[in-house]
Amino acid sequence: MNPSPSIQPPAQSTDPLMLRACRLEPVERTPVWLMRQAGRYLPEYRAIRDKVGFMELCKTPRLAAEVMIATVHRLGVDAAIIFSDLLPILEPMGLDLEFAQGEGPVIHNPVRTAADVDRVRELTDIDCLGFVMDTVRATRAGLDASIPVIGFAGAPFTLAGYCIEGGTSKAWLHTKSLMYTHESAWHDLADRIARAVSRYLVAQIDAGAQIVQVFDSWVGCLSPDDYRRYVLPHSRTAIAAAAKRVPTIHFATGNPALLPLLREAGGSVIGVDWRIDLDAAWAIVGHDRAVQGNLDPAVLFADRDTVRRRTQEILDSVAGRPGHIFNLGHGIMPHTPVENVLELIATVKGV
Ligand code: CP3
Repeated sequence: MNPSPSIQPPAQSTDPLMLRACRLEPVERTPVWLMRQAGRYLPEYRAIRDKVGFMELCKTPRLAAEVMIATVHRLGVDAAIIFSDLLPILEPMGLDLEFAQGEGPVIHNPVRTAADVDRVRELTDIDCLGFVMDTVRATRAGLDASIPVIGFAGAPFTLAGYCIEGGTSKAWLHTKSLMYTHESAWHDLADRIARAVSRYLVAQIDAGAQIVQVFDSWVGCLSPDDYRRYVLPHSRTAIAAAAKRVPTIHFATGNPALLPLLREAGGSVIGVDWRIDLDAAWAIVGHDRAVQGNLDPAVLFADRDTVRRRTQEILDSVAGRPGHIFNLGHGIMPHTPVENVLELIATVKGV
């Protein structure tokens, strides 16, 4: 059984393009924003990061909001995702997180055993993440009403994966081995994280987020059977409360065979990576849900004509069907040429 699509306010043609596309309403043109749109590929971002550490930036709402607001103006995108990260939510749950220089995230006390799962704290008091809600407020306050603010969180599998591995991983072996050998400990951990994510998303909505996205960045390492058994109930818990309030985007990468299950877990919009053609993905997801995607971020390293052609091919393939949000299939990579990002956006905007 699929949960019913989220309750949405009635159609209003003055609403932002992005919100209307999430609700499958007709739009004058396809809205566009990019995952990781504020990041190291932008010289302005690197200039700020020369002075401020990444976690410090996330924990300074005024600066975090400024980074995203400046990015939205520079790129001319149709939505602002708050500047933060997937992992700060894990700190108040007892995980010792660090963004080590040039290494990405490291968790110094990973969860490896059933006993370790017991020391992961329930996140009851969302106030310790108040800096994120302040970032939502400051971002909302600094932007035109036509640009919705997107809140976000990691999905239970991806967050649990970081807790268990202690960082990023190719094969997610520790994660799978806990899942397969200590199933009840896995479910305890994933459910604790799912409840935390649910509260965190609702708090972001209370602070002014008009859309929320759940990133299951690494879940594509699982088979559909494993997804259904170990992940789907937790992702559903994570998304359900937010979905009663605002449009939700459920994003995963790596395995197009999971698309029907992502839909089942929830999301008014399903995020699609480049490993499947967008029109084929949409047919699988069902045309009663919106889709977001799906240019390969590597295309942005090609020449400008190729960027324009490949962007246009995606637009042509969906042929203006209401409910398409243009995005990359995954986040923008460091060293991406800025002029190609601008070319992509100009192509979607038809200029
Ligand atoms: O999209 C945006 O511009 C908003 C901000 C945002 C960041 N991270 C900033 C960031 C968002 C939405 C995220 C989500 C995030 N964080 C994801 C999901 C998106 C995805 O790509 O699947 C993941 C997996 C993470 C975890 C994470 N954060 C990793 C693995 C790394 C290091 C590797 C990398 O690509 O930099 C980060 C660091 C991070 N998060 C940076 C930024 C701008 C770079 C930090 C720096 O300035 O050095």
